[in-house]
Amino acid sequence: MISPTATVAGPTDLAAIAALRTRVFVDEQGVPPEIEQDAADSHAVHVLSRDDTGAVVATGRLLVRGSSAGIGRMAADAAVRGRGHGAAVLAALHREAVRRGVTEVELHAQVRARGFYERAGYTAVGEEYEEAGITHVTMRRRLP
Ligand SMILES: CC(C)(COP(=O)(O)OP(=O)(O)OC[C@H]1O[C@@H](n2cnc3c(N)ncnc32)[C@H](O)[C@@H]1OP(=O)(O)O)[C@@H](O)C(=O)NCCC(=O)NCCS
Repeated sequence: MISPTATVAGPTDLAAIAALRTRVFVDEQGVPPEIEQDAADSHAVHVLSRDDTGAVVATGRLLVRGSSAGIGRMAADAAVRGRGHGAAVLAALHREAVRRGVTEVELHAQVRARGFYERAGYTAVGEEYEEAGITHVTMRRRLP
Protein backbone atom coordinates (compact mmCIF):
# COMPACT_ATOMS: atom_id res chain seq x y z
CA MET A 1 0.00 0.00 0.00
CA ILE A 2 1.22 3.53 -0.80
CA SER A 3 1.82 5.65 2.31
CA PRO A 4 -0.72 8.44 2.74
CA THR A 5 0.42 12.00 2.05
CA ALA A 6 -1.05 15.28 3.24
CA THR A 7 -1.23 18.74 1.73
CA VAL A 8 -2.32 22.24 2.68
CA ALA A 9 -6.05 22.68 2.08
CA GLY A 10 -7.41 25.16 -0.43
CA PRO A 11 -10.60 27.22 0.04
CA THR A 12 -12.66 24.61 -1.80
CA ASP A 13 -11.61 21.89 0.69
CA LEU A 14 -12.96 23.64 3.79
CA ALA A 15 -16.48 22.19 3.55
CA ALA A 16 -15.13 18.62 3.39
CA ILE A 17 -12.84 19.36 6.36
CA ALA A 18 -15.76 20.77 8.39
CA ALA A 19 -17.88 17.71 7.55
CA LEU A 20 -15.08 15.33 8.62
CA ARG A 21 -14.55 17.20 11.90
CA THR A 22 -18.30 17.12 12.58
CA ARG A 23 -18.36 13.33 12.03
CA VAL A 24 -15.43 12.74 14.35
CA PHE A 25 -15.79 15.35 17.11
CA VAL A 26 -19.54 16.09 17.20
CA ASP A 27 -21.18 12.82 16.06
CA GLU A 28 -18.61 10.35 17.45
CA GLN A 29 -17.24 12.16 20.51
CA GLY A 30 -20.20 14.34 21.53
CA VAL A 31 -18.42 17.71 21.37
CA PRO A 32 -20.98 20.57 21.02
CA PRO A 33 -20.90 21.90 17.42
CA GLU A 34 -20.58 25.53 18.64
CA ILE A 35 -17.29 24.57 20.34
CA GLU A 36 -16.01 22.45 17.46
CA GLN A 37 -16.01 25.31 14.92
CA ASP A 38 -14.48 28.53 16.20
CA ALA A 39 -13.06 31.86 15.07
CA ALA A 40 -9.53 30.43 14.76
CA ASP A 41 -10.60 28.41 11.70
CA SER A 42 -10.56 31.57 9.60
CA HIS A 43 -6.81 32.18 10.09
CA ALA A 44 -5.52 28.63 10.69
CA VAL A 45 -3.43 26.66 8.19
CA HIS A 46 -5.58 23.60 7.41
CA VAL A 47 -4.00 20.36 6.21
CA LEU A 48 -5.74 17.32 4.75
CA SER A 49 -5.10 13.78 3.61
CA ARG A 50 -7.23 11.96 1.01
CA ASP A 51 -8.02 8.31 0.39
CA ASP A 52 -7.46 6.78 -3.06
CA THR A 53 -10.91 7.96 -4.20
CA GLY A 54 -9.98 11.58 -3.40
CA ALA A 55 -12.22 11.88 -0.33
CA VAL A 56 -10.86 13.93 2.58
CA VAL A 57 -10.21 11.39 5.37
CA ALA A 58 -7.90 13.20 7.80
CA THR A 59 -7.26 16.77 8.83
CA GLY A 60 -5.61 19.06 11.36
CA ARG A 61 -4.88 22.78 11.76
CA LEU A 62 -1.95 24.99 12.70
CA LEU A 63 -2.16 28.33 14.53
CA VAL A 64 1.11 30.24 14.36
CA ARG A 65 2.00 32.60 17.22
CA GLY A 66 5.47 33.89 16.40
CA SER A 67 8.11 31.22 16.97
CA SER A 68 5.62 28.82 18.55
CA ALA A 69 2.41 27.34 17.20
CA GLY A 70 -0.60 25.35 18.28
CA ILE A 71 -1.81 22.24 16.50
CA GLY A 72 -5.41 21.14 16.88
CA ARG A 73 -8.54 19.54 15.45
CA MET A 74 -6.57 16.44 14.43
CA ALA A 75 -9.09 13.95 13.08
CA ALA A 76 -8.98 10.85 10.92
CA ASP A 77 -12.18 9.23 9.64
CA ALA A 78 -12.96 6.15 11.76
CA ALA A 79 -12.84 3.97 8.61
CA VAL A 80 -9.17 4.76 7.89
CA ARG A 81 -7.58 4.96 11.36
CA GLY A 82 -4.29 3.17 11.79
CA ARG A 83 -3.29 3.57 8.12
CA GLY A 84 -0.98 6.55 8.50
CA HIS A 85 -3.31 9.40 7.46
CA GLY A 86 -3.08 11.06 10.89
CA ALA A 87 0.71 10.81 10.92
CA ALA A 88 0.84 12.28 7.39
CA VAL A 89 -1.32 15.24 8.49
CA LEU A 90 0.86 15.85 11.55
CA ALA A 91 4.06 15.70 9.46
CA ALA A 92 2.61 18.22 6.98
CA LEU A 93 1.62 20.55 9.84
CA HIS A 94 5.19 20.32 11.15
CA ARG A 95 6.56 21.16 7.67
CA GLU A 96 4.26 24.18 7.41
CA ALA A 97 5.29 25.30 10.92
CA VAL A 98 9.02 25.05 10.08
CA ARG A 99 8.44 27.00 6.86
CA ARG A 100 6.98 29.81 8.99
CA GLY A 101 9.93 29.89 11.42
CA VAL A 102 8.21 27.99 14.22
CA THR A 103 10.58 26.18 16.61
CA GLU A 104 8.12 24.67 19.09
CA VAL A 105 4.61 23.25 18.70
CA GLU A 106 2.07 22.62 21.43
CA LEU A 107 -1.24 20.80 21.44
CA HIS A 108 -3.98 19.70 23.81
CA ALA A 109 -4.05 15.94 23.34
CA GLN A 110 -7.01 13.80 24.22
CA VAL A 111 -5.45 11.30 26.62
CA ARG A 112 -6.60 8.41 24.40
CA ALA A 113 -4.47 9.89 21.57
CA ARG A 114 -1.39 10.49 23.74
CA GLY A 115 0.50 7.52 22.26
CA PHE A 116 -0.10 8.84 18.74
CA TYR A 117 1.62 12.13 19.63
CA GLU A 118 4.41 10.44 21.61
CA ARG A 119 5.27 8.46 18.46
CA ALA A 120 5.55 11.83 16.68
CA GLY A 121 8.05 13.19 19.22
CA TYR A 122 5.75 14.96 21.69
CA THR A 123 6.18 15.00 25.48
CA ALA A 124 3.34 15.62 27.93
CA VAL A 125 3.70 18.61 30.25
CA GLY A 126 1.66 19.21 33.43
CA GLU A 127 -1.54 17.67 34.74
CA GLU A 128 -4.52 16.29 32.84
CA TYR A 129 -7.63 18.51 32.54
CA GLU A 130 -11.14 18.51 31.04
CA GLU A 131 -11.88 20.33 27.77
CA ALA A 132 -15.21 19.93 25.93
CA GLY A 133 -16.01 17.11 28.39
CA ILE A 134 -12.91 15.09 27.35
CA THR A 135 -9.73 14.52 29.40
CA HIS A 136 -6.73 16.22 27.79
CA VAL A 137 -3.04 16.75 28.47
CA THR A 138 -0.81 19.48 27.00
CA MET A 139 2.01 18.10 24.84
CA ARG A 140 4.97 19.85 23.18
CA ARG A 141 7.80 19.14 20.80
CA ARG A 142 10.66 21.14 19.33
CA LEU A 143 10.97 21.43 15.57
CA PRO A 144 14.29 21.41 13.70
C1 LIG B 1 -5.71 10.39 16.75
C2 LIG B 1 -5.95 10.15 15.26
C3 LIG B 1 -5.98 11.49 14.55
C4 LIG B 1 -4.78 9.30 14.71
O1 LIG B 1 -4.95 9.16 13.30
P1 LIG B 1 -4.58 7.76 12.55
O2 LIG B 1 -4.69 8.00 11.10
O3 LIG B 1 -5.39 6.68 13.12
O4 LIG B 1 -3.07 7.57 13.00
P2 LIG B 1 -1.88 6.84 12.17
O5 LIG B 1 -2.43 5.64 11.49
O6 LIG B 1 -1.20 7.84 11.32
O7 LIG B 1 -0.94 6.41 13.38
C5 LIG B 1 0.45 6.81 13.48
C6 LIG B 1 1.06 6.00 14.62
O8 LIG B 1 0.38 6.31 15.84
C7 LIG B 1 -0.19 5.13 16.39
N1 LIG B 1 -1.49 5.49 16.98
C8 LIG B 1 -2.58 5.95 16.33
N2 LIG B 1 -3.56 6.24 17.21
C9 LIG B 1 -3.06 5.96 18.43
C10 LIG B 1 -3.59 6.03 19.73
N3 LIG B 1 -4.82 6.48 19.97
N4 LIG B 1 -2.81 5.63 20.78
C11 LIG B 1 -1.55 5.17 20.56
N5 LIG B 1 -0.99 5.10 19.33
C12 LIG B 1 -1.74 5.47 18.28
C13 LIG B 1 -0.35 4.19 15.22
O9 LIG B 1 -0.38 2.84 15.66
C14 LIG B 1 0.89 4.51 14.42
O10 LIG B 1 2.01 3.88 15.01
P3 LIG B 1 3.24 3.32 14.11
O11 LIG B 1 3.88 4.54 13.51
O12 LIG B 1 4.08 2.63 15.10
O13 LIG B 1 2.59 2.43 13.09
C15 LIG B 1 -7.25 9.35 15.01
O14 LIG B 1 -7.24 8.17 15.77
C16 LIG B 1 -8.53 10.11 15.35
O15 LIG B 1 -9.03 10.89 14.57
N6 LIG B 1 -9.11 9.84 16.53
C17 LIG B 1 -10.38 10.47 16.92
C18 LIG B 1 -10.25 11.96 17.13
C19 LIG B 1 -9.16 12.30 18.12
O16 LIG B 1 -9.08 11.71 19.20
N7 LIG B 1 -8.33 13.28 17.74
C20 LIG B 1 -7.22 13.69 18.57
C21 LIG B 1 -7.60 14.93 19.25
S1 LIG B 1 -6.28 15.42 20.33
